[in-house]
Formats: sequence, C-alpha cells, structure tokens
Amino acid sequence: MAESVSERAKRVDSSGYAKPSGNGKLCEYIVIFGASGDLAFRKLLPAFYDLFVLKQLPTEFKILGVSRTDYTDASYREALVPALNEHSRLKSRQLEDFLEHVFYQSVNTSDSSEYALIKDRLAAFSQQSGNTKPGVLFYLATPPNLFGVIPECLAQHGLNTEENGYRRLVIEKPIGRDLASSLQLDDLLHRYFQEKQIFRIDHYLGKETVQNLLVFRFANGLFEPLWNRNFIDYVEITSAESLGVESRGGYYDQSGAMRDMFQNHLLQVLAMMAMEPPAQLKADAIRDEVAKLLESLKPLNTHSMHEDLILGQYTESVVRGKPQKAYRAEKGVNPVSRTETYVALKLGIQNSRWNGVSFYVRTGKRLPTRVTEAVIHFKQTPHPVFSHHAPANKLIIRIQPDEGIVIKFGLKKTGAGFDTEEVSMEFRYADLGELTISNAYERLLLDAVNGDATLFARSDAVHACWEFVQPILDYQQGEHSIYGYAAGTWGPKEAEMLLARDGRSWRFPCKNLTDTHFCEL
Ligand code: BG6
Repeated sequence: MAESVSERAKRVDSSGYAKPSGNGKLCEYIVIFGASGDLAFRKLLPAFYDLFVLKQLPTEFKILGVSRTDYTDASYREALVPALNEHSRLKSRQLEDFLEHVFYQSVNTSDSSEYALIKDRLAAFSQQSGNTKPGVLFYLATPPNLFGVIPECLAQHGLNTEENGYRRLVIEKPIGRDLASSLQLDDLLHRYFQEKQIFRIDHYLGKETVQNLLVFRFANGLFEPLWNRNFIDYVEITSAESLGVESRGGYYDQSGAMRDMFQNHLLQVLAMMAMEPPAQLKADAIRDEVAKLLESLKPLNTHSMHEDLILGQYTESVVRGKPQKAYRAEKGVNPVSRTETYVALKLGIQNSRWNGVSFYVRTGKRLPTRVTEAVIHFKQTPHPVFSHHAPANKLIIRIQPDEGIVIKFGLKKTGAGFDTEEVSMEFRYADLGELTISNAYERLLLDAVNGDATLFARSDAVHACWEFVQPILDYQQGEHSIYGYAAGTWGPKEAEMLLARDGRSWRFPCKNLTDTHFCEL
C-alpha cells in the first residue's frame, strides 16, 4: 500500500535534513568578519545556533566573531542572546551550551598587522582541543569594500594555505557592481585563494523549493520529457515583495532591483528552471550546467531593451488603509532618484531546448504581496476539439511563501455538452505534517562547513550573469524610461503590455490592494 504523506513525514528526520551533506572535509573553526553587524546577528549566528541544536555541526566547532567593535567574549555572547532568541528558527533552550562555542576578537580589519590576533586565537583553540589540523572557514559578512582587503590580509598571515587543514572563504553579494568590478574582485580573490576554496553565497540557492526544481524536473518521468520548446509555450518567474527599501535606502539607491535581485537571485532561479541535467550529482557537474545555461542567455541590445525591458519605481499610495511613501521620499534615497524598484524583462535562451520560448521575469518592491513563483505555461493541444477557450495547462511552482506545486488543467463541466473549466491539483509542503523547511542560511552554512560547493555560485556563472546584465546597466546610464507605479500595485501598466503584446498576461497571484496578504496558489 502506498505510504501516506503523514507516514512519510514520520520516517524522514524532522530536522529537515534527511542526511548530512558534504564530503567529510570539515571546517571546525568559523571566523565571521562583520560579527557585530546586522547579517551576523539576524541570520548567521541564529542559523549556526539552529544547526547546533540539530547536532549538525562538528563537535569541536568554534565561532570567532571579528569586527572593530570593542566586545569581549563575554559581552559578545551577552549581546547575542536577544538576537538568537528572536531569530533562531527552533527556539530551543540550549543557548548557554551554544554560546560556549562562541568567541570574539576585536580587530581593525583594514590593518593587516592586527590579523596576528586572529591567528593567535585560532592557534589557542587548536592547542586547547588538540586538533592540529583544524579546518577554518572565513565568512565575510562585511561591506563589500572589504572583500578585497580581508583575503589579502589573511594571506599575509598564511591563513589562506591548506597545509594545516582546509581554509574556505565565504562571501556575500554584491560580488562586484558590474562586469568589470566583478572580474577585478575575482582576480583579487584568486590571487590568495583557489576557486575551490571560495564559496559565493546566493541565499536563493539555499531555499528548499529552489533546490527542488532539479528534483521535480529530472526525477519525474511525467514532466521531464515535456520540459522543452516542443511542449512549453512560455515561462513566467515572479519575485514580488510587499516591503519597500526599509532602512536600506542608501545601499538600495546605488543598487536597484537589477543588481539587488535580478543579476543574482532571479538568474539563479532561472538557471535551475532551464538548465540541462547534470551528468552526475556532483558540485561541479551541476555548476557546469548552471554556467552553460547562463552563458546561453540571448544577449540584449538597445532595440531589445527598448522593447522588452520595463523599469519602474514606486510612488506614494495608500496600501490597506496605510499611507506609503514614494521611493524618492525614503530615507537615504536621492529625491530625484531614477533607481528602479521594479524590473520586468522578456528574455530568451539560445539552445536547442529553449529556442523560441519566452521567459518573462519580474521583481519589485512594494507590490501587493510577498510571493516568489515560477509558472510554466504549456502549449495548447494541437486540435482543441472541445472549446477554443479552454485554458492551456499550467504548472505553478510556489517558491515562497506557502511553498507548493499546482497543476491547472481542464475538466469537463458537469452536465450537458462538453464545455471545459480549469481546475487544480495541489501539493503543499505544509501537508508534510511535522516536517519543517530549513532556512536558506542554515542549509548553506552547513554545506560550507562540510565543503559541499554545489549550491554556491561559481566564478564563471557569476560572470555570465554580469555579462548578460551589463548592457542593461549601460542602457540605464543613458536616456531611458522609468515608469511610476503606485505602491501596493503590481508594477507599471507597461509591464502588462510586455505580455499583452504577445497575447499573454501575467499570473496575478492575488489582487491589488486587497485587505489580505494571503495568496491563492
Ligand atoms: C536580498 C535583497 O538579497 O534578498 C533584498 O538584498 C531582498 O532587497 C531579499 O529583500 C529577498 O530575499 P527573500 O529571501 O526575502 O526573498
């Protein structure tokens, strides 16, 4: 008899980790640069805490927080308590035990001589535990201007070489601001670290539902043969946020949706949707296919950008009864800014699987709700015998929130005749009962500790993304249109035209300005 969803949920480890990933090349010591910052307090340390509770970290692990702030081990631990209580997923009561593994060293990260302090702390850890060849992971949770400085200073103290255990460098986006600066940064990193030591985090790749794209596509005989230009009409990818720029106006105004979301997260999701199957389930086999796909994106030119690229910026509005500021009135934003808070782009992939299939990708801030999903629109049947208006099949992959998969198909309306109506078959992760979806940082940090680079962006893939995006950045330097959209709506009207022109329309997961955040799948 088939196993029910709840039986399966009982069988699988409820931690969300069916089995530990990685290759046994552990890093026992984790040095976090930028340890007093927001990312460390809200994401990194809480994720390490949850991994500790789930017994996923090496027994001997130690975390050394590094930043300029003048903490001691004790005061850093104390400062972490409220953040860990608030942001850890599991809300366990093992805080004291976890904090015994956390240490702090105040260092001016721009001053190479001070890295001796880090080296001494690591040597002391090693001596205490008797581990003569500990692996060390350096996490750069700092502003990007230090991405070049820290590796160089580490190298000056011999902290990049692997004679005494693995050495890894984890870096966060932004990996450059454009093609030239990303290449420059890469040169710098490669001067001191080998590519196999560099782990570039894109937290979208840590999302369970993004990883599931590969399993869904390549493990299901029902879908695998259909995943190409012969059966798929077009694809939509939407990543909508209801929040604005919050306290990050200064950063965002220099970045915009293109750099902040599109160049990295959305192109990575697109790659998972469209790549070829890897020859093997190995990090480089998968990353080869990701890079190949990104290199196959059809380059944009001025004409195609004029036609196929819509940039928008939110204007003031009242959303669910609450007045919302215009982007230009946000703190840290230039009052005459032309930075885009919305992007919609029609793009193509030049390979035999996808030639001729349009991918419509959009992202924006201050849209009606928070939702990330991909919609596959299948072609109509060749002979629509029942009704010319029967909608074609759709497959909706909801990445977040309310993670799930829905198939929409035509059903005969009951009664006389053969009229059709659209109905759904649904799967929701929530139906897996006790099983919780681990957070993206937990998954990625664990993989970095274990030396599994599968879900980290490789240098060639990052370059392919920048290469595709660079003409857009150049185009934005010149005269170009940027359309206003009222906060709380689905973006500029012009973005609707992008599809309407092709006789299509975006899927709107929920209506504008409704009084609920809930989105129907
Ligand atoms: C970050 C961007 O990388 O991703 C943010 O800098 C954005 O602007 C965030 O809000 C979205 O991530 P998520 O996981 O909430 O979809």
